[in-house]
Amino acid sequence: MSGARTSRPKEQIRFIATIVLLGPPGAGKGTQAKRIAERYHIPRISLGDLLRHIAAGNADPGRQIKEFIARGELVPDHVVFEVIAQRLRHTDCSRGFVMDGFPRTRTQACWLDSFLERDFPASSRGRHAVPIVILIQVDPDHLLLRLAGRRVCPSCGRTYNIYLQPPRAREVCDLDGSKLTRRDDDREEVVRARLVSYELETRPVAEYYRRKGQLFTVDGNLPVDQVTGQIVGVIEKRVKFIEDFDVAR
Ligand code: AP5
Repeated sequence: MSGARTSRPKEQIRFIATIVLLGPPGAGKGTQAKRIAERYHIPRISLGDLLRHIAAGNADPGRQIKEFIARGELVPDHVVFEVIAQRLRHTDCSRGFVMDGFPRTRTQACWLDSFLERDFPASSRGRHAVPIVILIQVDPDHLLLRLAGRRVCPSCGRTYNIYLQPPRAREVCDLDGSKLTRRDDDREEVVRARLVSYELETRPVAEYYRRKGQLFTVDGNLPVDQVTGQIVGVIEKRVKFIEDFDVAR
């Protein structure tokens, strides 16, 4: 044995935070959440993916969830709260996590606040309590093209866009060669219903966090790398603030 110690990189041990990505359908929440999760070695929690996974089963509540998603409507809170609470209780969330697709209503935002204040181990509860909320703003004209062109690899989950970020070979994943699929709710009429739901129910969530001084905005019209750069900039600034606050205590 060499006896040499292997130390884990700083990004794998430091406390990051609760990060919430907000934005309309097609804003790039999933794309960015994957990059942030990878960069900081924290889990990405996509409520849409969790619900689609349950909906793939034929028994209830999967069948009901599938119907809500197919109509572009929000799944009822009692279902959503159970799914999200179970996921957040996993130990992999203790250093922080990045959420996309939750919260989507003011009621869900209030629920998350109480969960963060109540349900984490005492050692990290205070630091989780104030989420870093990042709104990805995109011109409405871009959203339809982004959703119409979105394709997903069913094996590795990588997202492409046949117009904006096409795979090297037509409709085939660059990483594992699987045939790419299209989400059922990316049909134009369902996308329109999702956009209405965003305007009515989710836009007020951004206002809720703005009033609490927890909202940061990035320009999601830019290329993917530049959007990531802006998000990382916000996270670094906030996490440093939390670290300085801890030292001062
Ligand atoms: P969900 O899966 O969360 O869908 P969504 O919020 O509508 O968002 P999307 O996944 O469509 O878009 P995105 O912002 O992640 O964009 P992406 O990165 O893929 O929810 C689906 C359904 O589940 C809901 O309708 C509801 O029924 C239910 N549900 C979910 N959460 C719920 C909740 N909290 N309560 C109740 N019900 C809930 O990017 C889109 C495309 O654009 C891709 O092709 C990508 O390659 C491309 N792209 C991304 N960024 C860029 C860029 N910077 N430049 C160019 N192209 C880009």
